[in-house]
Amino acid sequence: MHPPAAISLLLLLTITTTTNGHNITRILQKNPEFSTFNHYLTLTHLAGEINRRQTITVCAVDNAAMSDLTAKGLSLETIKNVLSLHVFADYYGAKKLHEITKGSTSTATMYQATGEAPGTTGFVHITDAKGGKVRFTPEDNPSQTDVVFVKSVLEMPYNISVIQISQVLNSPEAMAPTSAPDLNLTSLLQREGCKSFYNLLTTSGAIGTFLSSVDGGVTVFCPSDDAVKEFTPKYKNLTAEGKTALLLYHGVPTYNSMGMLRSSNGLMNTLATEGANKYDFTVQNDGEDVKLKTKVVTAEISGTVVDDEPVAIYRIDKVLMPRELFKATVAAKKGDGKGDDAEAPGPDSSDDYGDDDAADQKANSGGKVVASAVMVLFVVVAFL
Ligand SMILES: *[C@@H]1O[C@H](CO)[C@@H](O)[C@H](O)[C@H]1NC(C)=O
Ligand SMILES: *[C@@H]1O[C@H](CO)[C@@H](O)[C@H](O)[C@H]1NC(C)=O
Ligand SMILES: *[C@@H]1O[C@H](CO)[C@@H](O)[C@H](O)[C@H]1NC(C)=O
Ligand SMILES: *[C@@H]1O[C@H](CO)[C@@H](O)[C@H](O)[C@H]1NC(C)=O
Repeated sequence: MHPPAAISLLLLLTITTTTNGHNITRILQKNPEFSTFNHYLTLTHLAGEINRRQTITVCAVDNAAMSDLTAKGLSLETIKNVLSLHVFADYYGAKKLHEITKGSTSTATMYQATGEAPGTTGFVHITDAKGGKVRFTPEDNPSQTDVVFVKSVLEMPYNISVIQISQVLNSPEAMAPTSAPDLNLTSLLQREGCKSFYNLLTTSGAIGTFLSSVDGGVTVFCPSDDAVKEFTPKYKNLTAEGKTALLLYHGVPTYNSMGMLRSSNGLMNTLATEGANKYDFTVQNDGEDVKLKTKVVTAEISGTVVDDEPVAIYRIDKVLMPRELFKATVAAKKGDGKGDDAEAPGPDSSDDYGDDDAADQKANSGGKVVASAVMVLFVVVAFL
C-alpha cells in the first residue's frame, strides 16, 4: 500500500472511532412526516438521552398521530413520559419484529428506565399478529389494539433501529399529570452538603452566571461543606475577581450525566473559561469513580445532588484550585514562591495533594502519547 493510502486509511480510522454515536435528530430530519415527533424529542431532551444509548429502538409516529397527542394539552414533562414509552431499550429491526418467538414479547422502555413508571407500566407488549401485522400494546392499556408497525425508517444493527408505528401508545400512567422537574438552581444548591458553597456563590454574586446557564444545560461541582471550610483561609486570600473566577471554575456550561462523565474523559471548559486553555480541568474516570484533575489538586465526585437534564449537581470532596490562581506544587518548588502575583497564594507545603497529582498527570499524558504512537506505527506497519 502506498503511503498516501495508508494515511487516508489512518484518517478514516480516526474519523470512525470519534463519530460512533448516532444522532436521532438528524436521522428523523430526513423524513418531514416525523417533524413534530422530532421536535418534541428535542424539546423534552429525550434526543440527547437516545443519542447516548447503544442498542435502542425508537418508535416514531407521523405528524397526524402526534397532533392527537399534542391536542390533549399535556405538560411537556408528561409528553416526555409518553414519548419515552416509544423508546425501547433493545434492538428491534423489521426482521426481528416479524420473528418474535411464541408470537409475543414484552420490552422495557426508556419510561421504565426513568424510575417514574410504577410496576410494569414502563413495558410494551409486542405481538406478531395474524397476517404479518406487528402490534404494540402498552402494558397498562391492554385494550389499545390500533398501534401497528408501519415501516422501518433506519436500521443499524444492533445499535439503533428507527421504525414508524401507526399511533401514539396510550398509557394512562405515562399520561398522568406530573410535577415539572425542579430547575430552580437557587433551591437545588441549598440541598444538604452544598450550603457553604451556595453561600459563597450568593455573597460573591457568581450565582448570576450559574442561573443564566440553566436553560442551555449546566453541571455544577459543589465542594462539600467540609471542603469549603478547610479552604476558607485560602479563599479569603483571593481578590474579589479571584474569588469569582474560583467559583465559576466549579460550573460547566453543559449538562453532563454521571454516565457521560464516566465515559468521556478529557478536558472540560468551565464557566470561568475565556478563550482557549484557560480555567479548564481534566475529567478522568477510575472504574465507576470520577476524578476532576486541575494541575494543583485532584477532587473526586462523592455524590449526586441532582441529575435531571438540563441540570446536574455533584458533590466533590475538595475545592477545585485552578492553575491560573494557584501554583502547581512542582512549579512552586522550582520558583520557591518568588514572583507570585498578589492574587496567587501558593498552596501550603502541608497540602497532601498537588505534587503527586501533577506528576501523575504528566506521566499519564506521556503514557497516552506513547500508546497512540505505538498504535499508529502498528497500523501503518500492518497495512504497508
Ligand atoms: C444532531 O443533528 C442536529 C441536526 O443536524 C444538530 O443540530 C445537532 O447539533 C446534532 N447533535 C449532536 C449531538 O451532534
Ligand atoms: C454500532 O456501534 C459500534 C460501537 O459504537 C460500532 O463499532 C459499529 O460500527 C456500529 N454499527 C453500525 C452498523 O453502525
Ligand atoms: C427558587 O427558589 C428560591 C428559594 O427556594 C425562591 O426564593 C425563588 O422564588 C425560586 N425561584 C423561582 C423562579 O421559582
Ligand atoms: C495568603 O497570602 C500570603 C501572601 O501572598 C501568603 O504568605 C499566605 O501563605 C497565604 N495564606 C494562605 C492560607 O494561603
